Amino acid sequence: VTFSEDNSRVTAELPTGESIEVLLYGATVISWKDASGDEKLWLSEAAKLDGSKAVRGGIPLVFPVFGTAPAHPQTKDLPQHGFARTSRWEFLGKSTSELMAGKTTNEPTVKLDFGLSSAAPGLDSKAHAHWPFKFNLIYSVTLSPRSLTTSIVATNDDNSSFDCQVLMHTYLRVKDITKVEISGLASAPYFDKVDTANPHKTQPAEPAAVTITGETDRVYSPVGDVTVAEDRVPRYRVTRDNLSNVVIWNPWADKAQAIADFAPKDGFRHMLCVEPGAVGGWQSVEAGDAFEGAQTIKLLD
Ligand code: BG6
Repeated sequence: VTFSEDNSRVTAELPTGESIEVLLYGATVISWKDASGDEKLWLSEAAKLDGSKAVRGGIPLVFPVFGTAPAHPQTKDLPQHGFARTSRWEFLGKSTSELMAGKTTNEPTVKLDFGLSSAAPGLDSKAHAHWPFKFNLIYSVTLSPRSLTTSIVATNDDNSSFDCQVLMHTYLRVKDITKVEISGLASAPYFDKVDTANPHKTQPAEPAAVTITGETDRVYSPVGDVTVAEDRVPRYRVTRDNLSNVVIWNPWADKAQAIADFAPKDGFRHMLCVEPGAVGGWQSVEAGDAFEGAQTIKLLD
């Protein structure tokens, strides 16, 4: 495994050619390439990578609030999507397949671990001001030849319980959004953030796949995996561990126009956010307990 680290990012490349790049700012995965160098994540050309703003693209990590929650006393004053994506994380180290317990195959694998705690110098000052709990987050990014896994352990080090939400805001790269079909959502209940007058819906059983034809911002509660196909060819399968929701987001033309760091403006044609999370209600984490959740994205094409 080839590996490099500087004061802003960590990169790793498997002997088989796949690579990842993770910014310490937000522990944001900003690149994931397959063996042929093909990028799997969408990153805005105008994304700020200097720590001045949450990264537009890649995989920003949402914690401890999804969106904003003005009616939730513990998180009401936090910025949209919380402070994990706007804090500078510490790189804790790497493990490779040989060192990983329980590995049964010889598949090359690298796991990068990142940490953020309530005592961390890199913690966004808004966390200090508006979320006074003692906590510790470990975020692990694991690359294998045909998959990427991101997992979080959020530990409550305080002496009272706290509420949180967690979400992995993955911007998948697609060639042409009009050819995308998302399966695994049929019959699933969802909350439609675009239709504010009538947000509670259920995805019909037919057609089996969801297509994107305009601004889409939905919080689904699907039972199983979500698969993204393009031009009838399956490309990505997203599996979740302890994350019951999947947000499907595409800003489409007008919203993309309005988002300052979204570039190029027709970039919405080349991205689809499939965001596993625990965001329907709150995870109450007792003192000394932890919340754990993970996603794995498998390459199918
Ligand atoms: C999605 C939300 O997860 O993130 C959308 O469902 C939101 O409502 C989008 O617009 C992007 O959020 P942000 O804060 O990165 O612009």
